[in-house]
Amino acid sequence: MKQKFCLATGALLIAGVTGILSQPAGANYDEANVPVYTLPDPLVCPDGTVVTNAVGWQEKRRPELVRLFEEQVYGRAPERPRAMRFETISVVTNALGGRATRKEVAIWFTGKKDGPSMNLLLYLPNAARQPVPAFLGLSFNGNHAITSEPDVRLSDRWLVERKGGCVTNNRATDACRGSETSRWPVEKILARGYALATAYYGDLEPDFAEGWKQGVRAALSPTGANPTFPPDAWGAIGAWAWGLSRALDYLETERPVNANHVAVLGHSRLGKTALWAGARDERFAIVISNDSGEGGAALARRRFGERTADLNRAFPHWFSGNFKKYSGREDDLPVDQHELLALIAPRPVYVASATEDLWADPRGEFLAAKAAEPVYQLFGQPGLGVNPQPAADQPVGDAIGYHLRSGKHELTDYDWAQYLNFADRHFHR
Ligand code: GCU
Repeated sequence: MKQKFCLATGALLIAGVTGILSQPAGANYDEANVPVYTLPDPLVCPDGTVVTNAVGWQEKRRPELVRLFEEQVYGRAPERPRAMRFETISVVTNALGGRATRKEVAIWFTGKKDGPSMNLLLYLPNAARQPVPAFLGLSFNGNHAITSEPDVRLSDRWLVERKGGCVTNNRATDACRGSETSRWPVEKILARGYALATAYYGDLEPDFAEGWKQGVRAALSPTGANPTFPPDAWGAIGAWAWGLSRALDYLETERPVNANHVAVLGHSRLGKTALWAGARDERFAIVISNDSGEGGAALARRRFGERTADLNRAFPHWFSGNFKKYSGREDDLPVDQHELLALIAPRPVYVASATEDLWADPRGEFLAAKAAEPVYQLFGQPGLGVNPQPAADQPVGDAIGYHLRSGKHELTDYDWAQYLNFADRHFHR
């Protein structure tokens, strides 16, 4: 009781003093109120075995941790549907003033046109002479929003009204075109020799509590449109992450793309999604989390900014039913988020925070990256290789990259510049 009281007053005080009123009120934003906590050791199995080498990690501990995250956090997702089909909807060879070939591809998950589907938008650099690496990420607002090109299909799915005021009755209008371009510097990505693949997360599941009824969770459930989800079944983040794997299935068939060099990335809730996709699916060569926060890269046990109870209250559809047990009980979680990052080892992972994004607990994101290091070291990799947390705008790291950007909760050109450099370094370009 006493601790609760301290957290609340601490938050008000900090908000008052530093003017961080854009941070939801009532949370702890005071480092002094972070309780003493003990993180689960990623190298110690529930049976007490200590993992000392990469083989032990890959064969025993990694599968064990994937299972725990599935059962207790994100829920279990189905395999790739056998009948899944790809259909090229459009190809424009002189997109963006001739710099790119642009494709739109429908992924029919059950192979049927009256079944669930996702529309992938793909930009390929025309200057490439050999298969190129690619960035893959879901968008918040639809394929038509990441580019101003007027002939990209306008999403006909459920859309939420965000900034710009272009959505009518939860449907996109032409005025929505280009509304998210600041997050997707397509031309810069192409100029650096990368392809970009993206899809709208609402194609997989519209992002509201009842959205599952219009998404893959209902459509792929054996009981049809009215499933009762067992407590370890996939939540919306699980469904979105599953969609990223299906996009990669497609990229594996796309000759101009080197599918062994696909970096999956996401911002915020879609950063949580990218991490879970990359943790589960070892085909992703690099995983990038932009301001993913609680349920993403941030350590839950720090109880700083957003907490498990906040997630479960505001977004009951994101996580598994079992995750509800951990509202206010972070110490009871059998895992913490450094272990999610560790599941990506030895593949490179990048965690980015922003100074004003206290809700996402920048320091908790850094400490999770740091605490994933022992697993990278099993593979002879230094991991992050630095301590303490770097000052703002100083990217650091090795197989684990990290930066704390000055500014707000956003995906910016600065963030992308670091991701492009990180990918160049790890793809030896
Ligand atoms: C909310 C939510 C976060 C999430 C963010 C976003 O702030 O509490 O967990 O990351 O939305 O996706 O923008």
